[in-house]
Amino acid sequence: MFFDDFLRLTDDMAREGWAEANAGNLSIRLDGDALAQFPDRQCRGPWIPLAQPVPDLGGETLLVTAKGCQLRNVSHAPRRDCGLAELRADGGAYRPVWGFEGTAPTSELAAHLLSHQVRLRRSGGAERVILHTHPVTLIALCHVLEPDTRQLNRLLWGMHPEAVSLFPGGIAYLPFAIPGSAEIARATCEAFETYSMVLWEYHGIFASADTMDRAFGMVQAAEKAARIYQTACALGGVRRVLPDDAIAAVAASLRLTPVAGILDGEGGHGA
Ligand code: 13P
Ligand code: ZN
Repeated sequence: MFFDDFLRLTDDMAREGWAEANAGNLSIRLDGDALAQFPDRQCRGPWIPLAQPVPDLGGETLLVTAKGCQLRNVSHAPRRDCGLAELRADGGAYRPVWGFEGTAPTSELAAHLLSHQVRLRRSGGAERVILHTHPVTLIALCHVLEPDTRQLNRLLWGMHPEAVSLFPGGIAYLPFAIPGSAEIARATCEAFETYSMVLWEYHGIFASADTMDRAFGMVQAAEKAARIYQTACALGGVRRVLPDDAIAAVAASLRLTPVAGILDGEGGHGA
């Protein structure tokens, strides 16, 4: 069941160690079946204007975690720690229609909404899940690598053959911006035009996917690749990685096209 799966996802994110205190948030654009699981939804307040309107999401309803909630608590107090946000037909405002009891949507709501708007268009409507979390090894990479998208992806894809198959859409490296700001929302949705994940410098990761399992798996795979790198460094330093032609061959064997501009000698296209 959709909502049970959502609650299990919040538990799993906490169990992975990705969600200290109130770290991380989630939003899911609901289809008709998922919406039907909330028969008692009703208007719970006035329209709240959005500083950055999302006209392409007009009329949609999203399940969103609450600002300040601890992900490990969501399954214990779902009506407090998450809720449904219904967007006005023009996408210029939202109102709570279920949950958010004594709370409000995540402080990253603008980044979630703008990202959904881009990924909806880029995926032809398939992508519905945006997941934000703070995985320690990916964040640590920001402190040792050059701030460079190509270097980040080559490093991670080169660590394990499953990396390119689990996140062929790659990860954009986003220079530091203030959490919860209009600026981080704008830069994130711009990066989602090309990539299916965005690494917020020193902060965490934003991922977009069609299903909850896929979003979770993409972040798990990226974090695993970063941990392999960390382990190799601890063992004396990286001396060999999967070469670009092997990475391309793995992707081709699965009929996947890695995001363009990362591998040498490839002709891919954006995620
Ligand atoms: P929220 O508690 O508002 O969702 O914020 C958590 C977070 O990770 C901010 O980037
Ligand atoms: Zn965060």
